[in-house]
Amino acid sequence: MEAKVVRQKFLEFFESKNHKIVPSAPIVVQNDPTLMFTNAGMNQFKDYFLGNKKAEFTRIADTQKCLRVSGKHNDLEEVGLDTYHHTMFEMLGNWSFGDYFKKEAISWAWELLTDVYGLPKERMYATIFEGDASEELERDQEAFDLWKQFLPEERILNGNKKDNFWEMGDTGPCGPCSEIHIDLRPQSDVDKVSGAELVNQDHPLVIEIWNLVFIQFNRLADGSLKNLPQKHVDTGMGFERLAMAIQGKQSNYDSDVFTPMIDLIASKANLKYGTDHKTDVAMRVIADHIRAISFTIADGQLPSNAKAGYVIRRILRRAVRYGYTFMGFQEPTLHSLVDLLADQFKDVFPELYAQKDFVAKVIKEEETSFLRTLEKGLKRFESIKTDAKDGVVKGEVAFELYDTYGFPLDLTSLIAKENQLEVDEKGFTAEMTKQKERSKSAAQQSAGDWIELDAEAEGVFVGYDESETVSHITKYREVNQKGKTIYQLVLDKTPFYAESGGQVGDTGYFDFGAEKVSVFDTKKENDLIIHYTKELPSDLNAEFKAVVNLKKRKLTENNHSATHLLHAALRQVLGDHVQQKGSLVNDQVLRFDFSHFSKVTEEEIREIERIVNHKIRENISLDEKRNVPIDQAKEMGATALFGEKYGDFVRVITFDRDYSVELCGGTHVGATGSIGLFKIVSESSVAAGVRRIEAVTADRAEEYFNGEMDLLSQIKDLLKNPKDPVKIIQSLMDEKQQLQKQIEDINIEKAKGVKSELIKSAVKEGDANVIMAQVSLPNAEVLKQISFELKNEVEGLILILAADLSGKPMLSVMLDDNIVKDKDINASQLVREMAREIKGGGGGQPFYATAGGKDLSGLSAALDIAKVEIEAKLNSKV
Ligand code: ALA
Repeated sequence: MEAKVVRQKFLEFFESKNHKIVPSAPIVVQNDPTLMFTNAGMNQFKDYFLGNKKAEFTRIADTQKCLRVSGKHNDLEEVGLDTYHHTMFEMLGNWSFGDYFKKEAISWAWELLTDVYGLPKERMYATIFEGDASEELERDQEAFDLWKQFLPEERILNGNKKDNFWEMGDTGPCGPCSEIHIDLRPQSDVDKVSGAELVNQDHPLVIEIWNLVFIQFNRLADGSLKNLPQKHVDTGMGFERLAMAIQGKQSNYDSDVFTPMIDLIASKANLKYGTDHKTDVAMRVIADHIRAISFTIADGQLPSNAKAGYVIRRILRRAVRYGYTFMGFQEPTLHSLVDLLADQFKDVFPELYAQKDFVAKVIKEEETSFLRTLEKGLKRFESIKTDAKDGVVKGEVAFELYDTYGFPLDLTSLIAKENQLEVDEKGFTAEMTKQKERSKSAAQQSAGDWIELDAEAEGVFVGYDESETVSHITKYREVNQKGKTIYQLVLDKTPFYAESGGQVGDTGYFDFGAEKVSVFDTKKENDLIIHYTKELPSDLNAEFKAVVNLKKRKLTENNHSATHLLHAALRQVLGDHVQQKGSLVNDQVLRFDFSHFSKVTEEEIREIERIVNHKIRENISLDEKRNVPIDQAKEMGATALFGEKYGDFVRVITFDRDYSVELCGGTHVGATGSIGLFKIVSESSVAAGVRRIEAVTADRAEEYFNGEMDLLSQIKDLLKNPKDPVKIIQSLMDEKQQLQKQIEDINIEKAKGVKSELIKSAVKEGDANVIMAQVSLPNAEVLKQISFELKNEVEGLILILAADLSGKPMLSVMLDDNIVKDKDINASQLVREMAREIKGGGGGQPFYATAGGKDLSGLSAALDIAKVEIEAKLNSKV
């Protein structure tokens, strides 16, 4: 059974059990501070489990792109070394939100695995939760009894809290789980050791394939478990493992999910998979990582130096370095794998196919720059080798390689070993811990648990139609943000727009009559709208008027609508490849990042501005449609963003049906005329293949133009209001250049004169020709030039000059090389002694040194010092 059929059958099976099939959520998580990447199929349904939101369908199934590389679920270090862990994997899942429970979940799982997929019943094991006294949780007898219909008791095993109590993260929905394991070993091995002994023992062929979680609790920040109002089912089956089991393979990488990619990688290195342990590991690492990297970039996360972007960068570097060290990939290679992947997933996850050139370009740029640092790092290792006298590479040094050159510790250890060195891993870990603590304290935010005041309330957003509304608080919590206490409040009804889709959150206040509580920000956590305040109202249960700061909101709306007009203009002028890659919209400015491979030219910018301003003057009315079925919205030609999660019903914002139609949750102007004026103020590059435009509208655009006009009139004033200021400036610049040239010529003449005077003044003392004088010269450059010319022209030169450089004192000592050798005179030493007289300092080489200072009147005293010194040296018998 081909893998794609395996996937199809899963979805069909649950469709036949009345499940709604939904698309995978993006792999990069937005609006959930507890999570960077989707780590389980259930993430997108978190609010249904917690009861924050009512599920429209109580039975859902899908295949979800997951990434387990950070936080509670992290498999990164295992990947490649074994044959069944992945960074990115597909999780097949079915869910019940307060609908069916253990009975159906267990019997359907059994039916699908044994009837539909035909997996051998006698090779199957189930685990159930054994209970946990410290949490006051009982053994899951119900699951045990249900399994007894299908399995003999000896194949139903007890599991502890670690294996059989599933939690999404440190907080959030959780519950006991029952896992299905399969024994894929050859019969001869099975006859020797029973599979029961190998379940959950990290055996590559006795593995978990499906986890059925019975969600019943919410884990709170204080560590306690709170019962949820309803019971739910959350299941997750590893698609890659399932395909291996069904196809009778012994490794995930041997099923057709991975073989085309492994073959491609092997051919690029002229190697064969399955011949050498080291290159096999490298091929598995690359085959796995390219998926993680490509899908996260397609969902909008670019590699960067912080947070989610840094995780992606690390995964990419891990792949590059395995390729470099074991496969001989000295040139960027990973990017050339993207096409195959995009083709393979075209029908399941079309977002990669649609952006494959962009994704490949981003990867190539990252590879190129890391390969360069990798080489530099390897050079750095040469000096490390000489320093590591006792045969140990210090922890700090290994950490420097990690931090500055992106060398993972295992790479450093490997190179060290090749050089008969060891790495102080403890020292490395200590440095790592220090850094983690530094970044932790920088980002410190700890939230308390929600205190419910009104559990029934829905938390409706009314801000599209109203800017003030009567409301009350439904729940609140205290948050410690970098040592300061703030409060987060949820209302039953709110006009406050929560930051999302690039648009900043509203500010404003809650009006209690005598008391006003100001709201400094509004953000979203999943679908919860959270108001940020610095204090709590004295009566938490009182009704009040929630009032949005309308001035700020209106300015923000100008910029948001202008962003839509800009987006459409960009596609018109630059082409359809333009995809939004990020945006920021506030009351001051709009910022729009988009995929495009070259700089936007001046002419293109003018054209874009022209189109947008034209659309503003057309004063197009906003056409806002809410609750449009997603398919209908797409038919309308609405631009959807990759990496954005859309429900079945969406909001469509149109400014002229033939111009701009976008799926958008933001707030907008009533008609484009309010935007007034649009002006692009900068165009730059943010990353490979991503450009950024910043623009201003309305009042800010006016200010911008006024600023430019002011500047122009200042310039004109200075020039005495000529007809053509540009011509005047040009001629002033030409004139300046000419004058400069003349000054230089005069200086050269002057220097020549000074030089011949100096030669005349030379006094012969034995082999030496002594020249000591106070001179006046235009600048230090001329002084230096004269000194060097004299050195070439005068034999046995001792030249001491005390110069007045247009008001600044400077000393110069130049000595013939033989004088330095035979007479024991050192220019550097001498100039330092002299410099005291001009309140300055300096130095140089034994034959030439200079010093600057502050006191012009000390020049002759400085010369006197030199005279005494030189006399003494010349007269002493050497
Ligand atoms: N949420 C469960 C898991 O990820 C199914 O294993």
